[in-house]
Amino acid sequence: MSQTQDISKSSNIDTSKKLVLEIKDLRKSFGDTHVLNGFNLELYEGENLVVMGKSGSGKSVMIKCMVGLMQADSGSIKVMGQDVATLNQSELDELRTEIGFLFQGSALYDSMTVRENLEFPLRRHKHKLGTNSNTYDLVKEALENVGLPHTIDLMPEELSGGMKRRIALARALILKPNIILYDEPTTGLDPITSKEIIELMRRIQQQYKTSSLIITHDVDCARVVSERIILLVDGVNYIEGTYAELSTSKDEKVKAFFK
Ligand SMILES: Nc1ncnc2c1ncn2[C@@H]1O[C@H](COP(=O)(O)OP(=O)(O)OP(=O)(O)O)[C@@H](O)[C@H]1O
Ligand SMILES: [Mg+2]
Repeated sequence: MSQTQDISKSSNIDTSKKLVLEIKDLRKSFGDTHVLNGFNLELYEGENLVVMGKSGSGKSVMIKCMVGLMQADSGSIKVMGQDVATLNQSELDELRTEIGFLFQGSALYDSMTVRENLEFPLRRHKHKLGTNSNTYDLVKEALENVGLPHTIDLMPEELSGGMKRRIALARALILKPNIILYDEPTTGLDPITSKEIIELMRRIQQQYKTSSLIITHDVDCARVVSERIILLVDGVNYIEGTYAELSTSKDEKVKAFFK
């Protein structure tokens, strides 16, 4: 049985800030597999929120519902105040420009160079570019921000796993979104490369002041980048609190994540 505990509902949330993301009672099943059973989430402007949950607990499903790649069975998702379910395709496309998405496993286009990968969102959303900005300058700036300007003409197969993750992050940031969704940003990387990615995420949080939702089971990542953590167990919010609160919890299910 899951129990919803709320260690610090008021201690680490600045509710005077704008809500940029609001998920209410989200439910999603695949046949008899009930993945999300009433999940709730609130992300405030400028906040860095981590969602932890074991493999197969529905973290990616939740994120896909959020950006309209998958339809929830019920519940509501509001991004920047707009209910995702009520939007038509062009409104959804427009809303997606507000969200930078770092996909699980990077998901670069293998047949495109780094430059083409980064130009892709710019071409799709040309109207987002200021009149003075040209795509090459934006690509260069984004690559410099992740410390990889020299990779501009390389193909993804010529990059290491950590470099691919950085390029994917540069692509997620290129439209200067209000919200960044990170799906397992450090999974599959060695510990040193993971630390570099975590450090980069922290720098980006400071530099861009975006709101971030980070899905991870990497405790180091959660410690460095989170202001608040939600633990997802059996499709619902099991517990919510700061890293300090959760990492010292006596609850067995919580301890299992932080050992
Ligand atoms: N398109 C789909 N069709 C059927 N089942 C699906 C589909 N997508 C996800 N699932 C199921 O939903 C459950 C949750 O999947 P999800 O990918 O969200 O897990 P996760 O928490 O992101 O795990 P991981 O940490 O391994 O990435 C799994 O049981 C998975 O098999
Ligand atoms: Mg996943």
